[in-house]
Amino acid sequence: MGLVNQLTLTPNTQIVQLMDPLVFLMLAFHLFFLGVTTVSIGLSLMTRKPAPAVSQRFLELMAPGRFLWLVFSLLPLAMLTVLYGLYLHGTENPILPFLERIFVLTLLGYLAAAFHQRTGKRFLGALATLILLGSAFHFMATMTLISVPEQWQFRAQRFLPFTFSIQVVVHFAQYLLFSLLLTGVSILVRYFGWPEGRLDPTQPGTSGIKTWGLALTLAPALLHPVVFLWDFGTAHHFAVSWKVFIVGMVAVAFLLPVAIMSLSMLLSNHLRFIIPAAMCSLLVFGLFLNLEQRFQNTANAEQRTVMARTVDSENTAWTNAREAEYAKSAKPDPALGKKIFAERCSACHKFDTKLVGPPYNDVIPKYVDKPDDLMEFIRKPRKINPDYPPMPNQGLTELEVQSVATYLISQVQDNGKEGGQ
Ligand code: HEC
Repeated sequence: MGLVNQLTLTPNTQIVQLMDPLVFLMLAFHLFFLGVTTVSIGLSLMTRKPAPAVSQRFLELMAPGRFLWLVFSLLPLAMLTVLYGLYLHGTENPILPFLERIFVLTLLGYLAAAFHQRTGKRFLGALATLILLGSAFHFMATMTLISVPEQWQFRAQRFLPFTFSIQVVVHFAQYLLFSLLLTGVSILVRYFGWPEGRLDPTQPGTSGIKTWGLALTLAPALLHPVVFLWDFGTAHHFAVSWKVFIVGMVAVAFLLPVAIMSLSMLLSNHLRFIIPAAMCSLLVFGLFLNLEQRFQNTANAEQRTVMARTVDSENTAWTNAREAEYAKSAKPDPALGKKIFAERCSACHKFDTKLVGPPYNDVIPKYVDKPDDLMEFIRKPRKINPDYPPMPNQGLTELEVQSVATYLISQVQDNGKEGGQ
């Protein structure tokens, strides 16, 4: 996490307010582009033998600008890493190193894809698909990890963070379905809806790619509700709330018109619903991302309370350990003991007279052979004599406790010659 933590600042309130929409935008760009690229390369490989013209259309889907992937997928991924760095600032978690590795993996995947597009070499296409699928899987695993804070203990050294929860599988399934849906919608819009790039119906492969576009829109729209319910069934109890449920239900509801419209276009051979179907699909995609963010936010709220609760006890434990460490090397110092007595004890104690507390000449002799018990009492006073009120804890350091105890014992052994002050 070093790299990103060094780059990021402590989040202030302004950044935190901007965070959610920024993360949303970056997620949307990255996942959209990654999904459509992966699916279109994969399908172009699959259809290459049986339908070369269709395969060519798949390949061209993402081709219009050479460095589109740089701007729309890698840049958002880098931004996301920095944003999460801000979001989780200072927490001990393996999420940032995971994101940094995913960035490298994705970059390699896109490079393979770019070379595949240029040279047409099959193995490069297969390699690109595999790497991009792998990086997407890791990405989904990491996103899921963010919403399960108790799993953050995952050691950063572990390369594959996917075995900790069934949710990872559910989210990856969801990602795949969205990739198919968004590829279908992209085909329809790019080749049949966009006035400029529209395909000529007489060209080879046109009807084939149209069928693919419609099928890729229809199938995920039908399957997605099942995965959605699966998501809810396996989600962490504290991540689920009524709001989350309602957002999910609205998203599922918008899949119905997508299914109906693409089915009707598939059966009747007209394409008049392309734009509304594409709008609905994007809306569902956006709602899905919003849902994931809600999961993460509730989980992070949980994490903050947990952290606040543990921070106190951790601090005390740390101070104590540090003092024990000092005490080992330092010798109790009678001069310091005398000073502590004068400053912290003499208001309530004299050697021979009763003040708020008992005279030391009465109470210290029993500790002469048991200095450890005396120190223990000074560290943590407890109720002893019913004639006195309880002694308040003086909050001394370990060295001060040892010094004052040594001083008191030595004074009493001298038969209280000094006799208090
Ligand atoms: C605010 C008043 C107050 C201060 C300050 C105070 N004490 Fe006490 N101390 C008491 C009282 C009251 C008792 C009697 C408690 C009891 O018997 O339950 C007591 C009891 C004791 C005892 C007797 C324990 C026993 O076994 O009966 C020792 C020893 C002692 N204090 C040491 C110290 C030392 C050392 C300091 C300074 C670092 C100190 N006290 C500061 C009020 C005080």
